[in-house]
Amino acid sequence: MPFYQGKLAVLDLGQGDASQHRQLARKLSVPLYTSVAETVQELFFLTWREGALRLIDRALLKKGGMTVEINPRNGEQWSWPAPKRGPLAQALGRKTVTVVDATTGWGQDGLALFRMGYRMQCIERSPVMAELLADGFSRLAQQNWMQTRQLQPPQLIIGDAITALQRLTFCPDCIFLDPMFPPKRKKSALAKKPIEVLRVLLGDDPDKQALFDAAVAAAGQRVVVKSPDDAAPLGGKADASFQGKLLRYDVYFKSPPH
Ligand SMILES: C[S@@+](CC[C@H](N)C(=O)[O-])C[C@H]1O[C@@H](n2cnc3c(N)ncnc32)[C@H](O)[C@@H]1O
Repeated sequence: MPFYQGKLAVLDLGQGDASQHRQLARKLSVPLYTSVAETVQELFFLTWREGALRLIDRALLKKGGMTVEINPRNGEQWSWPAPKRGPLAQALGRKTVTVVDATTGWGQDGLALFRMGYRMQCIERSPVMAELLADGFSRLAQQNWMQTRQLQPPQLIIGDAITALQRLTFCPDCIFLDPMFPPKRKKSALAKKPIEVLRVLLGDDPDKQALFDAAVAAAGQRVVVKSPDDAAPLGGKADASFQGKLLRYDVYFKSPPH
């Protein structure tokens, strides 16, 4: 049974290329619609609107839908490289240059790190998220600031990071993990809409322990795990922890920091 059955369809609203919509529906083995009739049961739709691939929640059909946001987040400096500030940069440490984001999702952490000037490689196993990321990264490549600096977007590896990490052709200074944890709080600042959507579409990540072990084996210097602040540390007691808003970055060193 296709993974997204009953959950996801492609919706061609006449914007963008019809063959692009067709190909996407075929690639993901999901239905293709041109309107949302009452008989349609899917909860989410992928569609090209206003120059970007969007994931639209059925309940919010008229709204813009969710895209991989390529612009700096609120409070982030519009410069490249942006200052390496905040708990995530602290968790990465001053010597880190190369980072693999093994759970890229909506790409918000990975892209923030890219804008800080880290050399990034991104891994994502969900074919839907991979499509949204590929679209976001290609929009990123078109940005003036990218082109004038001759920057390339992060490389995107589509597949399970547990095996992809074993096949890396280099040894990244840091591997960053942000797997999905079951929600503990009813109303959490972490449960923002895009993450809730991931939970409905993809479910939790029950193999995060194996992912952590693969990350420890593949990392050159450290593994950083982002988790809700009430979740048990994925790798046992961390060597260091940095507190964010309702979340924590746990750091596991491969070798003593120098
Ligand atoms: C909580 S989201 C990550 C959010 C991301 N940090 C962001 O800023 O948007 C977790 C993502 O990791 C992906 N993921 C979980 N385990 C994975 C694995 N073993 N290999 C590749 N991707 C994985 C899931 O498909 C999901 O898209």
